[in-house]
Amino acid sequence: MHANIHPIYDCLTPRHEREARLGQRGKVLWLTGLSGAGKSTIAAGLEQRLFREGFFAQVLDGDNIRTGINSNLGFSPESRLENIRRIAEVAKLYLISGIITVNCFISPAREMRELAKAIIGASDFIEIYINAPLDVCEQRDVKGLYQKARRGEIKEFTGVDAPYEHPEKPALEIHTAETTIDAAVETAFQFLLPLITLK
Ligand code: PPS
Repeated sequence: MHANIHPIYDCLTPRHEREARLGQRGKVLWLTGLSGAGKSTIAAGLEQRLFREGFFAQVLDGDNIRTGINSNLGFSPESRLENIRRIAEVAKLYLISGIITVNCFISPAREMRELAKAIIGASDFIEIYINAPLDVCEQRDVKGLYQKARRGEIKEFTGVDAPYEHPEKPALEIHTAETTIDAAVETAFQFLLPLITLK
């Protein structure tokens, strides 16, 4: 940290008072998985489900964040790490406001997810592995990116010519090739409920 920078948090309304106002515990849900695994779809469904149940959540999504705050970043390992670092910092700001964030980023390396966890704090970081085999993601190819990657038109594409390291002990794992979106959202919601409910 720069010697002349002095972040101030102490004089603000404390997190627990904000959480009491919102009627929830803030948490950072970190959805990791291949492109096309279903991260964004599940995140959108989960946000809506949470909202209907009286919770307040925000989705932070790779394509959106990379259009705005991270528009200067590419897909080299260094850029991806910086992408994740910035997102984790943003998620932390939501967290101290008592807000739940649903983060959907490939975050392909364990090192990246460990960095996010360190920035956010282990007790508030909930890693959710959205697991679908590469061939299933490639068959779905919703955005046509796998085809482009196979043709060599996109370099460093995760799963094709860039690695994905699956989580070793995710808090929750959802196999999207074997479940419906609605069931996946329900599973995630039921898992989260005790973690985001104020006692
Ligand atoms: S990362 O690895 O966490 O920094 O990536 P992320 O910010 O989640 O961005 C992934 C989305 O970017 C699109 N895209 C690529 N993905 C992977 N590799 C390469 N080279 C690439 N180029 C573009 C793609 O739409 C990803 O979105 P999802 O939702 O994962 O399909």
